[in-house]
Amino acid sequence: MSKLWGARFDKKSDPLADQFTFSISYDHRLAKYDVVGSIAHAQMLSKQGIIPKTDAAKIIVGLKKIFLQIEAGKFKYDPKAEDVHTDIQNRLKALVGKSADKLHTARSRNDQVVLDMKLYCWDEMADLTAAIVQLQKAVLGFANKNKDVIIPAYTHLQAAQVVLLAHHMLAYVEMLERDKTRLFDCAKRTDAMPLGACALSGTSLKTDRAYVAKLLGFSKVAANSMDAVSDRDFIVELISCCATTATHLSRLAEDLILWATKEFDLVDIDSSFCTGSSIMPHKKNPDVLELIRGSSAKIVGNLTQIHVLLKGLPLTYNRDLQLDKPALFDSVDTTKKMLLVLAKIFASMKVKKTSALQRTWDESFFTVDVMDYLIKKGVSHRDAHDILGRMVRDCLDQGKAISSLSVAELKKYSLAFDVDVKKLLNPEMSVKIKSSLGSTNPNLVAQQLKQWGKKLHA
Ligand code: ARG
Repeated sequence: MSKLWGARFDKKSDPLADQFTFSISYDHRLAKYDVVGSIAHAQMLSKQGIIPKTDAAKIIVGLKKIFLQIEAGKFKYDPKAEDVHTDIQNRLKALVGKSADKLHTARSRNDQVVLDMKLYCWDEMADLTAAIVQLQKAVLGFANKNKDVIIPAYTHLQAAQVVLLAHHMLAYVEMLERDKTRLFDCAKRTDAMPLGACALSGTSLKTDRAYVAKLLGFSKVAANSMDAVSDRDFIVELISCCATTATHLSRLAEDLILWATKEFDLVDIDSSFCTGSSIMPHKKNPDVLELIRGSSAKIVGNLTQIHVLLKGLPLTYNRDLQLDKPALFDSVDTTKKMLLVLAKIFASMKVKKTSALQRTWDESFFTVDVMDYLIKKGVSHRDAHDILGRMVRDCLDQGKAISSLSVAELKKYSLAFDVDVKKLLNPEMSVKIKSSLGSTNPNLVAQQLKQWGKKLHA
């Protein structure tokens, strides 16, 4: 009773083979989508006169009961069922009797499973988008709370110039925004209704696939039955979206891990997101952030897995495809958790303002500003670079600050120097004089904060 294909076989399958091939332990998560798809399918079969209206009505009543059980969390999957499709089919039979046998007319599990997966993916894309917005809001809130803080910014992990902390944070808001657009694009390409492709070649029964598509919110029907049952591009794409987001979150976690060290000393991560050491009583470790960084490896691994899973498969359905699910579910679940945990970390994280201020008082951060000063006075970029290079080297050799040089000493490097150059040598001025679009200029950053606030809270 529990298998959908037993009649042809002269003996029972080996229990170990069952254990090895069954997917119910994970694909039970598709139950809700399986039922929704089946209701639409039954409506179509009835409308087309392929099954009697009375049977369809019974089937739909039964499926709705199962749906309510799933929604209420009362649907306990049967570990003896091969997969979620079998499980629901068996439940339906137990509920409505013989009529249930007509539900699987003009479809196969091959098209059914793709439909379930597409519906699941759509739901998760919406959830992921909402979780991304939640993190964007938390990052923005943190940036707004610390609007005036200036921090060192790095290239090659060498302190380079100063920027507003908010500017650094908005870089991540931008990344996350791109992640949302990727999900949106992926959702559009998922929009092709596969059901009715049957095993692989379609059916001679007079189905109405466009009607099923309409009932389920698809704008079109998958045009080729072989592609319909073999296509897993939408899964590759969704895992890829997760991997890109996870990579962004890993970089963000890495920034915060560095900032929380004594060496950087820029932020204090709330104790509720840190752990201690079993031997070193003084330690406060950023384990949660480290696991965010580490989890991204798993998702990138899942992306590799799905590519390798697909690359050697001949058309059309092969059972290998069953293994798309653990990789997808894990990617989606992990990415969502990473987003939500990071949002909480941002809500409770404090900036070490005094320490940040101290760290921005390094005159080497302002050499490019001084170069711009010379360029504005007609010196070429190349000459200005040489002049500042020699100044920095001499100051380092003599243990002097650039600001301690007299005007006469400055003029030895370039006659273009005047006393006014000295007011450039501080962090506030360094951010203030930036004026290019997208720069760390405080007014421009304030505008960005405002625009993002409007956009995210709209
Ligand atoms: N559990 C299967 C999967 O996830 C469902 C499709 C089974 N189809 C088949 N021809 N055996 O792919």
